Amino acid sequence: MRTQIRHYFLNAVLFSIATCSSVPCFPQSGGQTHPWMNPTLSPDDRASLVVKKMTLDEKITLLHGTGMEGLGPVSPLAAQSNGGAGYVVGIPRLGIPAIQMSDAAYGVCKSGENGRYSTALPANVGAAASWDLDAAYAYGALIGRELRAQGYNMSLGGGVDITREPRNGRTFEYLGEDPILAGKMVGALMKGEQAQHVIGDLKHYAFNDQESGRTAVNVNIDQRAGRESDLLAFEIGLEDSNAAAVMCSYNRVNGAYACENKYLLTDVLKKDWKFKGFVVSDWGATHSTAKASAAGLDHEEPAWIFYGNDLKKAVESGQVPLAEVDEHVHRILWTMFASGVIDDPPRKSVVDVEGGLEIAQRMEEQSAVLLKNDGQLPLDAEIHSIAVIGPHADVGMISGGGSAQVDPPGGNAIMPPGQGATEWGVPIWFPTSPLKSIRAKVPGAQVQFNSGSDPGSAAALAKTADVAIVFAYQWESEDMDLRSLSLPENQDDLIAKVAAANPRTIVVLETGSPVTMPWVDQVSAILEAWYGGSRGSNAVANILFGDVNPSAKLPVTFPKSEADLPHLTIVKPPKKTTDADSQGWRRTAAGLPAFQVAYDEGVKVGYKWYDAENKPVLFPFGYGLSYTTYSYANLKVAVGKNPRVSFTVTNTGSRAGAEIAEVYASLPAAAAEPPKRLVGWSKVKLDPGESKEVTVEVAAKYLSIFSVEKDGWQLLPGEYTFMVGGSSQNLPLKEAVTLR
Ligand code: BGC
Repeated sequence: MRTQIRHYFLNAVLFSIATCSSVPCFPQSGGQTHPWMNPTLSPDDRASLVVKKMTLDEKITLLHGTGMEGLGPVSPLAAQSNGGAGYVVGIPRLGIPAIQMSDAAYGVCKSGENGRYSTALPANVGAAASWDLDAAYAYGALIGRELRAQGYNMSLGGGVDITREPRNGRTFEYLGEDPILAGKMVGALMKGEQAQHVIGDLKHYAFNDQESGRTAVNVNIDQRAGRESDLLAFEIGLEDSNAAAVMCSYNRVNGAYACENKYLLTDVLKKDWKFKGFVVSDWGATHSTAKASAAGLDHEEPAWIFYGNDLKKAVESGQVPLAEVDEHVHRILWTMFASGVIDDPPRKSVVDVEGGLEIAQRMEEQSAVLLKNDGQLPLDAEIHSIAVIGPHADVGMISGGGSAQVDPPGGNAIMPPGQGATEWGVPIWFPTSPLKSIRAKVPGAQVQFNSGSDPGSAAALAKTADVAIVFAYQWESEDMDLRSLSLPENQDDLIAKVAAANPRTIVVLETGSPVTMPWVDQVSAILEAWYGGSRGSNAVANILFGDVNPSAKLPVTFPKSEADLPHLTIVKPPKKTTDADSQGWRRTAAGLPAFQVAYDEGVKVGYKWYDAENKPVLFPFGYGLSYTTYSYANLKVAVGKNPRVSFTVTNTGSRAGAEIAEVYASLPAAAAEPPKRLVGWSKVKLDPGESKEVTVEVAAKYLSIFSVEKDGWQLLPGEYTFMVGGSSQNLPLKEAVTLR
């Protein structure tokens, strides 16, 4: 203890000597003073001061990672990495710390492998279903805190590609099909994350809407449709959060790889959106030196195939101007100063496990969407017998895979202890047991389990029970797409047989995407739980038994059939384009032969497609039931620069609840847009019988079209119809106004 006090005292003395009060001089390594450590200077000034002192080698050090097994060379320096996906060596001479990057889509990934713990939140698509900006902020803040506690200062979360193709295997990592909903949600999430002083990142920029052949595919989309759909989600997310990094994607867009696409990186991102942070390539998505640098790629991950020696030579030969390198470096340093990772570096500490689980559970309670309820729910606590049916519903709930995968504490719930380390391509079930959570609700009842592997025996059990609850799943992961929107492993048959045996059948879906439901009319209730995270089963049980009134709404349309999607099938590369051998990365780096995908549906993504094509759907975008009911009245639209839409929402039922009140607009015919678009919403908490007047201010941009001619957003003068209600297909209020 004494020694400790002595240390504190000595440190205090040294600090006071080295910190000058009149002149900005701050202590750093080797006793040197670094004026850029003065936090009262702007991040721009601080970055410029550092750049001036750097050698070319030091600059280049900041422009690439140190390697990852299987994706090119690995530097011995990678040994100092914190175990995350990316590690950028710092420059101690100048007081610049390393950048420690970790994937963190729905929680900090690889923590188990690193001997640490992190909370798994519900999948991102579930967070989007909450339509709750405060909840999204809390989601991001939790991830930010856990990143810091594990020693990371940069997150690789922030997926915001919109659900143009619901069979995309990463749909669970994204925030749904609407660019405004997805953009606002990722903005809030990133704000929460960056408030913890970690560098936030939005990805995968852009149009990485399918995984099949992702390193080869060339996405063709016209400029206006691109700006009004996928790119709008990024634009709003950046506007709202100032996310400090953007990850360019694997695919090509209109002929050029995203990571060397001048239109995307420079014209749109850096010039039009005034993005001040840095562009990091997806892992192995860099394909050139001079072209990528000129196009606006600032940083190569995970290695230095193009941005190491080749970049140095290119600078020395004059092929890449030094000023260009300085700009890349400036952006990275700006990001580090602006995000606070230099002034307030992460400190390894113990995460708040209980606090994290609590947040994960509350989030899932706001994320699960009640799709159907014939009055079966909420379940009566006096119930005598329940049959819990479905693969692994006795031990766990499934999670999304790939680089987003969060390690479950204790390993994969469906494997013997000690054998459950997460592995690429292997579905992971979190140890959150539906069976246990349901049993805990009704200790006096007989709650029996059947895995459903034999639908006949599952149906026999269901027949004996008051109620059958089937937990059905569809696993998703990076690097694969879904074969179809049908539930795998014969689960449709299982549900149909159980429902035939017991009409009081409730289906709980654990999926990252919409699924088709040939049994929809046979069951009495359906709850879409997405991937529920670390405490998913408690949250689901709370909803099933009415301790929580569901309030979430769909961020994606559930089509009746795959035949109704804009693309009948996902376009696949003509032949396998990647090689599993350790040299595969060389071919990828060189650039694989392109195959074409035409996004001819353009801006008509999700509900905009079904609306425009007059296709009936199974469950529409924005839809979700509650245990109470709501009514809407008194629509008023105040015309102005940003129109203000006011209306009254009333809770007409007997339970307190939260209603997501949605505002859509249809544009003048001259705009040639789909019939309507979401332009705002408000989540309103209401007690039984309570009414509230709600005002939603609609940003002019959300009512505009993107004019390629004018290279900007344009509000066309004419008649705009505002529609308000509880789902994209239930909009009882309507008012037309003229905007000029
Ligand atoms: C994924 C990124 C991820 C990166 C690092 C890539 O394969 O596409 O989303 O951040 O790996 O793990």
